[in-house]
Amino acid sequence: MSTHIGAAPGDIAPTVLMPGDPLRAKWAAEKFLDEPRCINEVRGMLGFTGSWRGHPVTIQGSGMGMPSLSIYANELIREYDAQTLIRIGSCGAMQKDIGLRDVVLAMTASSVGNPSRAMLREIHYAPHADWGLLRAAHDSANARGTRLHVGGIYSSDTFYDERPDLHEQMVRHGILAVEMEAAELYTLAARHGRRALAVLTVSDHLVTGEELPAIEREQSFGEMVEIALEAAFA
Ligand code: ADE
Repeated sequence: MSTHIGAAPGDIAPTVLMPGDPLRAKWAAEKFLDEPRCINEVRGMLGFTGSWRGHPVTIQGSGMGMPSLSIYANELIREYDAQTLIRIGSCGAMQKDIGLRDVVLAMTASSVGNPSRAMLREIHYAPHADWGLLRAAHDSANARGTRLHVGGIYSSDTFYDERPDLHEQMVRHGILAVEMEAAELYTLAARHGRRALAVLTVSDHLVTGEELPAIEREQSFGEMVEIALEAAFA
C-alpha cells in the first residue's frame, strides 16, 4: 500500500482511468468492468479493479484539482507502476461551437501553475496528451458518432475564478474548455515515461451559461468511459 492508496501490490492494473469523483469510479466500475472489486477506500477516494474485454483495468478517483490528482497519479506511477493514465471527467466549454454533452479530447493542457511547475523553473513546459491515445480516442469517438472536439484545454486551480479577463484570454487563444486536473497529469506522465490522456464531457458552458442537469451527466459520462477504454486497448 502507498501513503494514500490502500491497494496491495498487484491490485492496480497497468491501465488506470481517473475520474475526479470517487462515486463515479464506483459507478463506472460496476457498469463497465467484469468482476470489479474495491481496491482502495482510504479517505473515501474509492478505486476498483476489474477487467474490460479481458484486459485488467483500474478505475481510481483522483479528487478535484491538480494537488489532489498529483497525489494519486504519483502513487499510481511510482508505487504501482501504472503505465496508462486516462482522466475521465467534466469540463466547462469556452467556445461557442461546443455544446453541452460534447466530448473534448485534450491535446494540450495549459495552466497558470501546477504542482510540477516549480521544478521546471524557467521552462514553460507544454503539457500534452500521448499521441497514440489521442488518435485512438479520436477514432473511437468518431466511430460512435460522438460530437467531438480535439484541441487545447485549460487546467484551472480556481473553480470560482475572479481574475478579470483570464477566461476572455483563454477564449481568444482558442482554448476549448476548462477543467482542473489534466495539466498535472500530462506533466507527471511525461516525466515518468507513461501515457496520459484526458477525455472530457461538457457539463457547462462559460460563454452561454448553460448547464447540464445532474441526471444527464451520468449518461454522457458513460460514453466517455467507453471511449477511454477503447483508446487504452486500441
Ligand atoms: N469542470 C466542469 N466545469 C468546470 C468549470 N466551469 N470550471 C472548472 N472545471 C470544470
